[in-house]
Amino acid sequence: METILETNESLKKNQPYFKKPGDDFEYSQLAREERIPVEIFQTAEKGSIEAAKEVAELIREKQKNNETCVLGLATGSSPIRMYRELIRMHREEGLSFQNVVTFNLDEYYPIPKNSVHSYNYFMKEMLFDHVDIKPENIHIPDGEVDKSKLKEYCQNYEKAIDEAGGLDLQVLGIGRTGHIGFNEPGSHMNSYTRVVTLDDLTMHDAAEDFGGIHNVPKGAITMGVGSIFKAKKIILLAWGDKKASIVQKAVEGKVLDEIPASFLQRHENVKFILDLGAASELTRIKSPWKVGSVDWTPSLIKKAVINLCSTVNKPILKLTDKDYNDNGLGELVVLYKSAYDVNIKVFNELQNTITGWPGGKPNADDSKRPERKDPAQKRVIVFSPHPDDDVISMGGTLKRLIDQNHDVHVAYQVSGNIAVANHEVMRYLSFFKKYFEELYPKDSLVSEEYKKIKNYITTGGDIHTENINPEILKAKGLIRQGEATSACDYLGLGAEKLHFLNLPFYETGKIKKNNLSQQDVDIIKELLREIKPHQIYAAGDLMDPHGTHRVCLEAIFIALDQIKKDSDDWLNDCWVWMYRGAWQEWPVNEIEMAVPMSPMEVQTKRNAILRHQSQMESAPFKGGDSRLFWQRAEDRNHETAEIYNQLGLAEYEAIEAFVRYIP
Ligand code: F6R
Repeated sequence: METILETNESLKKNQPYFKKPGDDFEYSQLAREERIPVEIFQTAEKGSIEAAKEVAELIREKQKNNETCVLGLATGSSPIRMYRELIRMHREEGLSFQNVVTFNLDEYYPIPKNSVHSYNYFMKEMLFDHVDIKPENIHIPDGEVDKSKLKEYCQNYEKAIDEAGGLDLQVLGIGRTGHIGFNEPGSHMNSYTRVVTLDDLTMHDAAEDFGGIHNVPKGAITMGVGSIFKAKKIILLAWGDKKASIVQKAVEGKVLDEIPASFLQRHENVKFILDLGAASELTRIKSPWKVGSVDWTPSLIKKAVINLCSTVNKPILKLTDKDYNDNGLGELVVLYKSAYDVNIKVFNELQNTITGWPGGKPNADDSKRPERKDPAQKRVIVFSPHPDDDVISMGGTLKRLIDQNHDVHVAYQVSGNIAVANHEVMRYLSFFKKYFEELYPKDSLVSEEYKKIKNYITTGGDIHTENINPEILKAKGLIRQGEATSACDYLGLGAEKLHFLNLPFYETGKIKKNNLSQQDVDIIKELLREIKPHQIYAAGDLMDPHGTHRVCLEAIFIALDQIKKDSDDWLNDCWVWMYRGAWQEWPVNEIEMAVPMSPMEVQTKRNAILRHQSQMESAPFKGGDSRLFWQRAEDRNHETAEIYNQLGLAEYEAIEAFVRYIP
């Protein structure tokens, strides 16, 4: 399905930071802090297509010369779209894999080959089952090798790569620890295929797939840094701002044992392919004025001034000409004649983002407010990907919208069923069992259901087997519906205003979801056409390359795009506001509406989040961060308020932030 996630980014299209590595002067200036050639793409999709093209070209070139093409392959989320594109090329363009020999980087240890979590399973599902590669040409480390034979096995794996003629091309991802393959911090430049223990952060990152950190194998077999270095060419793929910080260190930092990917600076034919998210900490994007002349758009000026405040540790209105000149921003002073004028401009812009009236303030001058005043009572749809993102990300704003008499609807896009633990189901069932046994001793229906489900759960049925029990999934979905209803009730919103969309793409019962389809989009369109909202709130993780939030946002954008083509009138009067999802906040320079909260409102928001009881315990989806959802939400909102305050604006307890999307 066509994605339109780029629409909002179109302004950035002509930015110089998309320049490709080459010997041209502008690139050499822009990339002067970078010690590895980097190619940046608007989206992960585009970067993946480019990577697939390079792989395909190599395969074809080798084919022409009757040679085998030896590829080193990676697993994980980063190469998935590249594999998808290669499969498409195989199907539609006749790209053959008959001359391809592959060596995978790594495999968990120990792990059965047929486990859905094994990299053996992953590679079959993502690539090998869909192309014409010869099975005997596939090499993936074996997670079942007997412990006593491991050393010999690893040596033979390394030897097999050499005997195949060495790797023509190695594809890599990068872990947040900076690992390549499973070469964690501390790995030696001259390390070869061996068994390693996984870093704590890596295990946390894998915990989501394994349904909890306790299920993640502690070790892995991995090619070493030395094995990777023998490749004639290396391409590293990274998507999303989760990777931005480690990518910056690997590309612009020193070569350090603590960041194995930084060793790549020493390889003579390596390239990083990044999307804007993963590249966002590189100097050419984060502070482009340091590496070349820039087009001073209002948003870039805001970014530069906020950046300057944190460098010199001053609020905006105290910045001097000297501060600007000393930090490479003298151009701005020239442009505006004095620091004072730039300061005032940016200060006012920030000031104007703050409003206690997220639905617009009736009868007020709205020329400098984020939202229009009319109509005074707006119809609002808050789209919440999972049944708790609404309160986690915008509980304070939601409460204000309700209290300020707007017609507020909340649409929960997916059921969120797989994030409910089995013991939660048992808890509800035990209650019903007892309750019905006492009230209706003759009716055995509940007891039978209880026995059936208990039996299923205790005999090992869970989200990681192929055989998923639909009744348990149903129960889990209903538990989340009950929690969401309770949270909204607490905020003063009746059940008739809640819409549980249960989008079909999510309903696989597994971590791996289906692709978005027109059926999903139609469900959203139907709701939009029924409510005809003046305001839409959506979780806008534009930079996050995977995950349910992104798909949910894509569904809304595609729905809006299709409605726009049908020329529905109401859409002209509909504004879309994006909150950032549960994980992080918008950078302050991008915030277009900041809704402050009092200490009482923060407490109310916390209570609403606490209604989502099944998510209060160690949900496996929290990565390395052990804070509970309400703590994260509160910390994040306090932090935004603090940044506003440090910039010299009023001191609030907490702030929720939004960016406007223009369909
Ligand atoms: C996978 C591998 C790892 C991943 C890295 C990034 O075979 O060797 O180094 O490339 O952990 O994982 P994703 O792509 O899931 O972010």
